Amino acid sequence: MSQEPGPEAAAVVGRVWETRAGINLGPLDLIPDGGARNYVLQIGDKRFHGFVVRRGEAVFGYADRCPHQGLPLAQRLDQYLTPDGGLIACSWHGAVFSVEQGVCVGGPCVGARLTPWPVVVRDGRVFTV
Ligand code: FES
Repeated sequence: MSQEPGPEAAAVVGRVWETRAGINLGPLDLIPDGGARNYVLQIGDKRFHGFVVRRGEAVFGYADRCPHQGLPLAQRLDQYLTPDGGLIACSWHGAVFSVEQGVCVGGPCVGARLTPWPVVVRDGRVFTV
């Protein structure tokens, strides 16, 4: 008797934690100034989950994986920042990270770093680097 994979097996998709350079992520204005936005990219049969924080014309990208326990940071769509917008926050156990460097400055993994996802703005659009 053969064992067919169940629907839960089909739902398991492999993850990657980096992307190639030159991917057009769309207009900068999709990211609210002072806010953040989630991006999910299908790369072959795997997926990349990341987010980008915007500060005016500057952007800071990271893979969506907390160095504390490897969980995606946000439990609500695009909610990657502290209420004042000053730090990146993990919604699970309260780790907070600097926006510019992705270094944990408070919570259970102080000194650990988010995985950088290099991005840049060109002609009003966000691209991977
Ligand atoms: S998984 Fe992010 S603080 Fe624990």
